[in-house]
Amino acid sequence: MSVPEVIVGAEAMRAWTRRQHASGRRVALVPTMGALHEGHLALVKKAAEIADRVAVSIFVNPTQFGPGEDFDAYPRTLDEDRAHLEGQGCCDVVFAPAVSEMYPLGANLTWVSVDRMGDHLCGSSRPGHFRGVTTVVSRLFAIIQPDVAVFGLKDAQQFFILRRMTREMGFGTELVGFPTVREEDGLALSSRNRYLTPAERAAAPVLRRALLEAEASIVSAGQRKAASVVSLVRSRLAAVSECREDYVQLVDTDTLQPVSDLVPGSRVLIALAAFFGKARLIDNVLVDVPQG
Ligand code: PAF
Repeated sequence: MSVPEVIVGAEAMRAWTRRQHASGRRVALVPTMGALHEGHLALVKKAAEIADRVAVSIFVNPTQFGPGEDFDAYPRTLDEDRAHLEGQGCCDVVFAPAVSEMYPLGANLTWVSVDRMGDHLCGSSRPGHFRGVTTVVSRLFAIIQPDVAVFGLKDAQQFFILRRMTREMGFGTELVGFPTVREEDGLALSSRNRYLTPAERAAAPVLRRALLEAEASIVSAGQRKAASVVSLVRSRLAAVSECREDYVQLVDTDTLQPVSDLVPGSRVLIALAAFFGKARLIDNVLVDVPQG
């Protein structure tokens, strides 16, 4: 079982990748904010299948949290995270930089942002969030120079924005989106699930049930109006007292712009966010709209 080395400095991290590349090894990166769970470990396992060496970054990125969000409360569990990675045996190096390492000149003046794709879904209620994500991932790519990076599709909007950024910036890193890992009752694994009370935890699978019902309304019942699909999901969420909807939306997967009529043969993302107590949970389903 390999014990992952921990690197905290950007220069040391860059040198690590240089050594791997000099030996002809392909490097995969799994970017995380720590508080690792089975969902993250599935990404790390995937990374080990498609590359020779795996780096996991653990960095709670301040620039993607808005005022009043849970930046201070976000779980920081580096020792436990290392133990999980050691137990799994697929990770070669943990990059765990301090804020000063990622933002070396203090308040950040340089931003990487993708127009329009962050305007809807989580972008409406978390202004500036995706600009923080694209900026920090650019910096991680610049330091680590991975051949491939693996992201979870629970954060589908994040994945599609980062894919666009990577293609347009020419980072030379391939992006792999990995299906959401779930509990048996369908709840998507998330570091924020630990905020749920027992009653909220019992109620939270409504998110998955509502999304599957929405998918079936399109695929099996022939629904082609996005507004009707949204109403269906909203009514299911509203029926659960622990759940307070943030948004439910159908968007095109290339542009992440809202759709109204579902075009046969197209692919849409049905995405939602909802509060259960202080936990804001997200989930989504990708639907191929049947021909005819
Ligand atoms: O998905 C996350 O955990 C974060 O948004 C990421 C990609 C690690 C950037 O901070």
